[in-house]
Amino acid sequence: MQYTPIEPKMQVKLHPKNTFTIIMVVGFLYLAYLIFFESGDGMPEIDVDLKDVISYAVLAIEMGGHAVMKVNEEKNLNAAAKGLTDEGKEELLTRADLISNHLILDILQRFPQLQIVSEEKKSEFSEREIEPYRLDNYAVWQSVKEILDKIPSRRLQLSDVRVFVDPLDATQEFTEGLTEYVTVMACIVLDAEPIFGAIYRPFFNETIFGLQGFGVITSDGVRLNPIEDSKTAKKVVVSRSHAGKVKEIVEKVYGDKMNIEPAGGSGYKTLRLVNGTAELYLHTTAIKKWDTCAGDAILRTMGGAMLDLEGQPLRYSSADPLLNKKGLLATVRNPYSYLNKFQGIQIL
Ligand SMILES: *[C@@H]1O[C@H](CO)[C@@H](O)[C@H](O)[C@H]1NC(C)=O
Ligand SMILES: *[C@@H]1O[C@H](CO)[C@@H](O)[C@H](O)[C@H]1NC(C)=O
Repeated sequence: MQYTPIEPKMQVKLHPKNTFTIIMVVGFLYLAYLIFFESGDGMPEIDVDLKDVISYAVLAIEMGGHAVMKVNEEKNLNAAAKGLTDEGKEELLTRADLISNHLILDILQRFPQLQIVSEEKKSEFSEREIEPYRLDNYAVWQSVKEILDKIPSRRLQLSDVRVFVDPLDATQEFTEGLTEYVTVMACIVLDAEPIFGAIYRPFFNETIFGLQGFGVITSDGVRLNPIEDSKTAKKVVVSRSHAGKVKEIVEKVYGDKMNIEPAGGSGYKTLRLVNGTAELYLHTTAIKKWDTCAGDAILRTMGGAMLDLEGQPLRYSSADPLLNKKGLLATVRNPYSYLNKFQGIQIL
């Protein structure tokens, strides 16, 4: 079946008779919905096509990313401290985070029982405040439709699916005008495993999608495979806020054979692995799962993974903590051979 856009342009003229039938059918479905799905206990399972969840997730981050750019143009970020991060640093929150988050949740909540895990709670913007940042669904749809059409269908039970979203990764850098680090991400988790990830760079209008079993593809339709080992830059990307400690550790393991590059955003650092401009992404302090989920899905699709520094792949089920306190090692290939090099070194 072909995709139907969320707000399809009407192409069919309706007969009054047909209209009546449609109203009857819709009414009947609604009734069935009320009876079966709103009745609380013994709720039957809802079936979804993974492809549809992916479409909504992609539409959502493109919408969110567009809003991030728009707020940036207004030069009124309203940055405010959100509190302290898990590393004890001041954490920033801007209007861009909130508006992007609002638009993303608006779209994803069209799946009534989808479990959504987002960095921000839905804020109380009125429709009038949000409207200027909303893109035409149909136009966004058209720009990603060709890619989404290539994705195979797969039936899933909605209750097994969780979607992680990061409405604005690298907020700190965003407020400093370092927009190259900014990404908007969505990730689909089945059971505890990230199976689909999308990272959107709004200021460059680039999206990278990874679906396990299907591959990694850019918004221009280019398939990405890991860059050969020998052509990969001998570089470790690390968070700008704790580059010093990682530098020490990397020097112990690699001597001067690896360079350290401090960079903002987990999404951005993952993209550097994807295009081979870095070989390793290391993180030695706590990190939230919505920062890692999409990148993790993409790396797993390419044959790599994100491991914590005890060697466990990150897990994303509702039983797993949202905060990973065990550090992070990420690569596009052989994550365990990299991890082995760090055995016996006190990292955390
Ligand atoms: C962004 O990229 C998409 C797909 O690559 C394209 O269809 C769209 O026109 C681009 N948008 C802008 C504003 O350049
Ligand atoms: C690699 O990816 C990063 C992040 O998307 C981008 O800034 C950089 O230009 C890319 N480099 C190459 C050579 O593709």
